[in-house]
Amino acid sequence: MPSILFVCLGNICRSPLAEAALREEARRRGVDVVVDSAGTGDWHAGEPPDERAIAVAARHGVDIGALRARQVTRADFTRFDHIVALDHENLKNLRRLAPANATAELSLLLDHVPGREGQAVTDPWFGDASGFDVTWAEVTAAARGLVERFGGRGSRD
Ligand code: 4NP
Repeated sequence: MPSILFVCLGNICRSPLAEAALREEARRRGVDVVVDSAGTGDWHAGEPPDERAIAVAARHGVDIGALRARQVTRADFTRFDHIVALDHENLKNLRRLAPANATAELSLLLDHVPGREGQAVTDPWFGDASGFDVTWAEVTAAARGLVERFGGRGSRD
């Protein structure tokens, strides 16, 4: 079963939404995956997602209110098959944190969306609520790409 860890800065906006979108897409497509998220920073450790992130997920029928932020650890680099960064800064910090025995494959979230490879998911934290709709669309597109890669059977119920 593939395991995926999504990583942003605070683990309260982008990566919890990516976690929720992948879990939901995998469920709908009948694919078993292990999914988690974390932040490269620790300022929000133990906190639930930002209320605007909770709201956008809820508008799409997904409850993320029980998620709690945590900081990425060195053990994550051997525990997960894939560590997916939401932007270049977080990818750079992950490369710096990676232990010598790291086995996880590192990528950017939008590498999993055809035509958007190499692009960053903009941090919606500083903007207004509409930014979270953009984030939701991006993480949903990436979730589709990841599930395809992991062998989704193609049903869209
Ligand atoms: P995230 O957004 O990395 O998508 O969770 C942020 C949340 C909090 C902060 C920055 C980004 N912060 O500076 O506290």
